[in-house]
Order: sequence, then structure tokens, then C-alpha cells
Amino acid sequence: MHARSPIPLGDDASLLVLTGAGVSAESGVPTFRDANGLWEKYPVVRVASPEGFAADPALVWRFYSQRRARAKGVVPNAGHVAIAEVERRLGERFLLVTQNVDGLHRQAGSARMVEMHGNLFRTRCSRCARPPFEDATVYADGTVPTCDACGAFLRPDIVWFGEMIATDDMARIEAFVNRATTSGPLTFVAAGTSGVVYPAAGMVNAVRARGADTWLVNAEPANNASQFAHFVEGKSGEVLPVLLGGRGSR
Ligand code: OAD
Repeated sequence: MHARSPIPLGDDASLLVLTGAGVSAESGVPTFRDANGLWEKYPVVRVASPEGFAADPALVWRFYSQRRARAKGVVPNAGHVAIAEVERRLGERFLLVTQNVDGLHRQAGSARMVEMHGNLFRTRCSRCARPPFEDATVYADGTVPTCDACGAFLRPDIVWFGEMIATDDMARIEAFVNRATTSGPLTFVAAGTSGVVYPAAGMVNAVRARGADTWLVNAEPANNASQFAHFVEGKSGEVLPVLLGGRGSR
């Protein structure tokens, strides 16, 4: 399907948007799929799992330092901007859930947002309860930073393979869906995500069960494409400004 006009959103309608790596692709951030699940010669799980960190924390920090260095130079694209603009129109009737850790949604102006996989520019202790802190440091090769409070290794504040999404984040999404579906129609738009990694990949079924209209915007049919009522094949930077009624279409 081609996107030629905005999704109709009445005065009592709510919008839940889920984004994945594809939304940042047009900003020059490589998707996980592009890399075939590999970073340099390492399977991504070696640099993005608690087991990988325990085995080789310096390798993990090299990976995240490289990602930080690359992400610092990128800017939001038209897809990020369209999402931030629709939030300004809908206010409390809007929520963005992103699997991206690159911070581009915030840079584009999104605020009502759940970063379900964490943030690349935050660090936390691997052992103690010291709160996560802002950290854009690109550590020198071989460096593993340690916690001022307890001396344990610091780690990126990212949800790795095999780790749970924060319960607060899941609760916030649930509360939004509950409120939205009791106050009017809910529309769900998933963009730039392969529909492979849970719980994000299961959100379409959860909201459909609550009566939501469901849209997928992706460069190719995602793994869970058949679960959506509408699929618009294309680049999110081109499709989202049309579907979300961004600049020029109001
Ligand atoms: P993937 O890399 O798995 O999928 C990106 C999807 O975006 C693919 O289906 C592409 O076809 C599509 N795509 C690429 N360019 C696009 C564009 N310009 N417009 C629209 N779609 C485009 O990324 P995610 O689904 O985000 O988790 O991956 C989910 C999670 O798996 C990630 O958050 C990460 C990874 O393991 C963690 O790091 C915890």
C-alpha cells in the first residue's frame, strides 16, 4: 500500500508509535539487520549480553564506544521529526515506544517516550544501585570504567539480550493503552522494526486485542507483518511525514 494521506485521528483518538533501527537508517545509523547480526567479526550477542560482558568487558566497551562515537555525529531525519510533530498535536493522547538507543527521537523533540532498550549515552554500575548517569565518553581501547561508589565495572545502560525490560517501562505502556482504549479509538504505528525481538514484536497483538487499528511502516515485510491491518512498504523518512500528517499536510 502507498501512503498518500494522513491516518485520520479524531479529537478523542490516541496514537501509540513503536520504532526500531530502521527509523534511524536514513540518518546513517546502521540497522542490526544490515550488519547481519555481526559487529566486526563478533556475533552481536558477544557484545550485547550479560554473558558477553562477563567474558570480555573491554570488548563490550569497545563496541559501545564505537557506537557512541558514530551516534554523536548523526542528526534526526524526517521520520523522527514527523513523530515529534504529531506528539505536539496530540499531547497526552500520544506515546512513543522506541527500541533505539541512539537518542535521535529526543534530539528531534520527542518527550512522551519510553526507551525500552535503554540509552547509548547513559552508563550504570554493573553491581550497585547507584542511579544510571549521562555519559557520552568514548573510552580508549581496552578501558573498562569502574564505579566511584563500589569499584565494580560500569556498563552501558542498555537492555541486553537475555535481560528484562524495566517493569516501569512496561507499566507505562500498559497504562497508556488502558487509558487510550477507554477514552476513544487507539491507533498503533510500528516503523522500521523487523518484528523479531520481543516484547516489542508482540505489541501489535496486544493492542489489536484491545481494538486498536494497526499500521506497519517498513522497508520490507517485517516478521510479524501479517499481524497488522495495514502495511505501507517504504522508507520511514518518506512515509511517516505523510501518514502522521506532518509538515504541509495540516
Ligand atoms: P532490525 O535491524 O532488526 O530491523 C530494522 C528493520 O528496519 C528491518 O526490517 C529493515 O527492513 C527496516 N528498515 C531499514 N531501513 C528502513 C527505512 N529507511 N525505513 C523503514 N524501515 C527500514 O532492528 P530492530 O527491529 O529495531 O536490541 O531490532 C530490534 C532489536 O534487536 C534492537 O533494539 C536491538 C536488536 O537486538 C538491543 O540492542 C537490545
